[in-house]
Amino acid sequence: MIIDDLRTPIVLAPMAGGPSTPELAAAVSAAGGLGFLAAGYLAAADLADRIVRTRALLSDSARPFGVNLFVPGAPTPREHFAPYLEGLGREFPLGEARFDTDDWDAKLDALVTEPVAVASFTFGCPSAREIARLRSVGTESWVTVTSVGEGRTALEAGADVLIAQGAEAGGHRATFVDRPADDAADPLSTLALLQLLTAATDHPVVATGGLATGAGIAAVLAAGAAAAQLGTAFLNCPEAGTAQLHRDALVIDAPTMLTRAFSGRRARGLRNRFILDHPDAPAAYPEIHYATGPLRKQARADGNADAVNLWAGQTHTLTSAVPAADLVRTLSAETKNALNLALSRTIQDC
Ligand SMILES: Cc1cc2nc3c(=O)[nH]c(=O)nc-3n(C[C@H](O)[C@H](O)[C@H](O)COP(=O)(O)O)c2cc1C
Repeated sequence: MIIDDLRTPIVLAPMAGGPSTPELAAAVSAAGGLGFLAAGYLAAADLADRIVRTRALLSDSARPFGVNLFVPGAPTPREHFAPYLEGLGREFPLGEARFDTDDWDAKLDALVTEPVAVASFTFGCPSAREIARLRSVGTESWVTVTSVGEGRTALEAGADVLIAQGAEAGGHRATFVDRPADDAADPLSTLALLQLLTAATDHPVVATGGLATGAGIAAVLAAGAAAAQLGTAFLNCPEAGTAQLHRDALVIDAPTMLTRAFSGRRARGLRNRFILDHPDAPAAYPEIHYATGPLRKQARADGNADAVNLWAGQTHTLTSAVPAADLVRTLSAETKNALNLALSRTIQDC
């Protein structure tokens, strides 16, 4: 398995909407981790171009990297979200609240024509047939889960690896079905979900959410993770396509929170006016995402951080603006030190 052959158990989280670039993915893979491209919001042809570009950037073109896809859901009846958009429309420019599958079939075809080492999935689980099709071209399937139940579903479909996404994670939650009724229960933290999954399966589990230091990576490795996946920690690297407004906000000590206000799907971002003003935004993805596109674009152009989705995990102040390869090397060295330190703390018989 790919995960057994990495020089360091560090996986770059896919980050759609700008931050993920071929340069960032190639830098992490070249440094011995596993780089990822985000295919979300891209046309299939653009994804194919990015795969070719990432391979070209890697001097050893056999070095593995992954591609992440959004699993499509179902359309939401218009009456569920129309009142929310009517309210927003009085204040902001809005786009068409349409549904689509994010070019799912064409992107799967692109991954068969231009195979990569790993395909990872969020927002759901591909079918057993789709996973088998990817396996036939040598691609492993990793499925992001937020509960033990989702983990079981993914393994039944044939997933090779589970990615345990804890509540601390920045960006969208990977939940297969996003239901406001489930908000009454606290989402599981990274360490809690990791322990539950490793108790339930022998398949490799990659931990993600709130990991930003070697000590954090060491903690999940000690708890049985096969690797750690980091997103926010890489947002400030020069190779990332992160907007300057977003970079500036990450280093300010401000809280994050979960919201559906921007996209109609629960996601963690830096708390701002827009999130606070719309605490009861409905679940309707991708309809709300498309509708709020023009308002987010306008706010970004105006430098108005109060109406932009500033996705970030809970440890966002620990990001630093260093090249991705340096970050991978520093995190690897810190992880080793943290594991050695933990071993040196003798446990007395009791
Ligand atoms: C800006 C941003 C964009 C993200 N986009 C994606 C994505 O396209 N696909 C995906 O599976 N996860 C996405 N995520 C979630 C990450 O895969 C991962 O779960 C998260 O970054 C882990 O938490 P951390 O940010 O605290 O490291 C995104 C996260 C961020 C911060």
